[in-house]
Amino acid sequence: MTDGLPMAVPAQGLPPRVRIHEVGARDGLQNEKAVVPTEVKAEFIHRLAHAGLTTIEATSFVHPKWVPQLADAEALFPLVADLQGEVALPVLVPNGRGLDRALALGVRRIAVFASATESFAKANLNRTVDESLAMFAPVVARARDEGMRVRGYLSMCFGDPWEGPVPVHQVVGVAKALRDLGCDELSLGDTIGVATPGHVQSLLAELNEEGVPTSALAVHFHDTYGQALANTLAALQHGVTTVDASAGGLGGCPFARSATGNLATEDLVWMLEGLGVETGVDLGRLTATSVWLAGELGRPSPSRTVRALAGRTASATVQSPTSQSPTSQSPTFQSPTARSATARSPKE
Ligand code: HMG
Ligand code: MG
Repeated sequence: MTDGLPMAVPAQGLPPRVRIHEVGARDGLQNEKAVVPTEVKAEFIHRLAHAGLTTIEATSFVHPKWVPQLADAEALFPLVADLQGEVALPVLVPNGRGLDRALALGVRRIAVFASATESFAKANLNRTVDESLAMFAPVVARARDEGMRVRGYLSMCFGDPWEGPVPVHQVVGVAKALRDLGCDELSLGDTIGVATPGHVQSLLAELNEEGVPTSALAVHFHDTYGQALANTLAALQHGVTTVDASAGGLGGCPFARSATGNLATEDLVWMLEGLGVETGVDLGRLTATSVWLAGELGRPSPSRTVRALAGRTASATVQSPTSQSPTSQSPTFQSPTARSATARSPKE
């Protein structure tokens, strides 16, 4: 890149395309104190699909008392199920009861969620690590018999608020156990956002050495210390092609104090566009979605990219969901691949 223009082809060592696993409707909202109306969640998911996201985690079939924000899973899923032809709508399922609920609604993809540490396993699942794996075993087996794809989340892969830094070998042990249960994909969670790029690369290398291929891995970064993009780039350089992110940078885990927002999808798309890596996401529509949702939640989006792009255009001011259609709210910004005097690429 000699003229300051973004790359037309991916920068060396990067994949041509990244699949974004959008977690805004689940991880993004689960920590919200005020209950978001089911219709707003359904509109959020439709807008995300309209922005080009093809994997959108819709909700969780967990105990409603544990995560009251997602207690409307039964009401929500039918409002978005029409998307399932073109969009994958995975949901979180911890146990047989959760799987029954999901199957009754025609859910086609699930995720179980384990912890690399005992403290978080207890806080999040009321189980030890081994007990939670035993809880997941029949769930994964039955889901696969039903033809579902199963993702296995692994939380606290880098640091834990109770136990401190988490040794790589401890993470690898639980990762292999999840693979042995039959999970198709593992998502490595930096639940409290403490990872740094070297640590990410060490963990990925160790997983490979222990027989877990990079093709089976996704990364899931929270942005507490502002490292999520750097960590993502390190993972991409290692060959990872599935990245979890949350529209507007919302998120957190109610069971891990110090867990803040996820990597913002807009920040991720901005970086990837600048690097010439395709995502299929329309950044304008996505930003408009996050601006709209920020209005619903009553506070600005934490995403730097959303703030920068929304600040450039009057059409991105916060609107009520009923006042405008998703397309008419698209902010008129320039993406990093469309250079202009007003919009500067990340390299300029
Ligand atoms: P428990 O209290 O041990 O449940 O919770 P139990 O198995 O003892 O059952 C107690 C009662 O709950 C029973 O009812 C069950 O039927 C009912 P009773 O017989 O007493 O009337 N029950 C359920 N009801 C509805 N749906 C269900 C369900 N399961 C049991 N699925 C449990 C155990 C796993 C259920 C609980 O701990 C739980 O729901 N935990 C969810 C925690 C959660 O959702 N955390 C956030 C997601 S993880 C995350 O955010 C991290 C991630 O983003 C990655 C990262 O960042 O690292 C993924
Ligand atoms: Mg998370």
